[in-house]
Amino acid sequence: MARNSLERFLDAVQPIWGPLTSELVAGCRWHLEELLEAPPTEEWLTALHREAPAYDELYRDPERGFLLLAHTERAGLYRPPHDHGRGWVIYAIQQGEIEMGTYAQVEDPQGGVQLVKRDSTLVRPGQVQVYLPGDVHDTRCVSGPALLFRFTERDLKKEDKEEHRVTRYVERGGVWTPGAP
Ligand SMILES: [Fe+2]
Repeated sequence: MARNSLERFLDAVQPIWGPLTSELVAGCRWHLEELLEAPPTEEWLTALHREAPAYDELYRDPERGFLLLAHTERAGLYRPPHDHGRGWVIYAIQQGEIEMGTYAQVEDPQGGVQLVKRDSTLVRPGQVQVYLPGDVHDTRCVSGPALLFRFTERDLKKEDKEEHRVTRYVERGGVWTPGAP
């Protein structure tokens, strides 16, 4: 029997887990939206607000490989465009506001790759954003401190540092291009 919203979230996601499908994404999205409705009096959430960790691993599933992370961000914090390698990610905002931009990779006239910004969305408390494999996005905390949950299909630190699958982009002369691997 789940004791709190966090445990209810995990109890709901574990049985639907499997390969990436529209149904799995919709299910995880729905359960994250439910998690965002957790009462602030629940101990784990109270602790996150009190301690405001920049990075906190709330759960790592030993069998399925997914992670649920919590991040506290100050207003103004900018994370430049990146993808998530082979992973997919759902961002869920518990407090504050984060502007999330999406980009497409296009070929430039010299045959290189550059980003073109598609749009940006102001994500508010109670809202989630899904990024699938290949999606490129950036984030800017516009109202903080923000508390966001990041549900990742796999360990993205490993995907980045060990597998070298994550692409980060750097700005040169107003144009975002892939950074050094
Ligand atoms: Fe991201």
